[in-house]
Amino acid sequence: MGKPTVFVTRRLPGGAIDLLHQHTDLRLWEEELPPPREALLRQAAACHGLLTLLTDRLDAELLASAPNLVVVSNMATGFDNIDLAAASERSVLVTRTPGILSETVADFTFALLLAAARRIPEADRYVRAGRWKTWGPSVLLGRDVYGATLGIVGMGGVGTEVAKRAHGFGMRIVYHSRSRRPALERRYGMTYLPLNELLRQSDFVTLHVPLSAETRRLIGRRELRLMKETAILVNTGRGPLVDRAALYEALKSGQIASAALDVTDPEPLSPDDPLLSLENLVIAPHIASASLATRAHMAMLAAENLLAALGGRIPKHAANREIAQAWRTARRRRLTSLA
Ligand code: DGY
Repeated sequence: MGKPTVFVTRRLPGGAIDLLHQHTDLRLWEEELPPPREALLRQAAACHGLLTLLTDRLDAELLASAPNLVVVSNMATGFDNIDLAAASERSVLVTRTPGILSETVADFTFALLLAAARRIPEADRYVRAGRWKTWGPSVLLGRDVYGATLGIVGMGGVGTEVAKRAHGFGMRIVYHSRSRRPALERRYGMTYLPLNELLRQSDFVTLHVPLSAETRRLIGRRELRLMKETAILVNTGRGPLVDRAALYEALKSGQIASAALDVTDPEPLSPDDPLLSLENLVIAPHIASASLATRAHMAMLAAENLLAALGGRIPKHAANREIAQAWRTARRRRLTSLA
């Protein structure tokens, strides 16, 4: 029996590529930048499986041009880069890699929160620019994290790990989520609030909801106006959760104190984006999950999901498992040439 053809859209850390080499006819995009649209279209048209990243856009047109495609394995928790409805319509299984990155992303969320609260990047620039003349009682004063109120928007895997850390820091925790989490409320002394009230009460607001039609621009002009003038907004979720122009105005005018972003809209930001001129913005290039161990783990899980689906099993982390029946029939048909 021949091996299924698989396209992986970038080199990956850890052992995932070796594993795929053993079990598939592997095509690997070796460049640093993502494959351009034409390359992705060409490979999708020829392959049974794709291992994709959040930088690869899999829309209805691309899925329609992939007659043999059985599975798209996305190496990410989020899958807003994939038109899930179009994939389901074409009986293509979509899988993702949640859970294993929650702690790493929560660590980084706290790194950003602390960096903004205690103005660490500003302090670094201050020292390097030779402005440090003496210890000063009013130099680079920041805000306390302990005892402050943290508003967590979204209480999934990452939100829960952020709550655990905030509890350790002695913060008061309020949260907003699709569903109440009574056990976590008891464990971390958290209070559930409607979003508007959370924004009014919080000293720090951190976003951990998936990007969808409902959550796009969740934080816009109106929401920023509800926040305290001393508040700090942290986003390690997805850039489009926040209205970029409204955030710029709020930071520039002092409507909120500062922001710390790992994700932006678009990614990357243009080097002359006005946001980058602001001292009260801490920014990182979408690296919240970027620890050596976690990225290798994510890559391996994505490879395993891909192989499981090609072998006829529906991985635990399938985003559209409701298409199971139609998918099984389609999979057999699409792999017949290998038999
Ligand atoms: C995800 O998994 O969705 C992250 O944004 C990637 O780090």
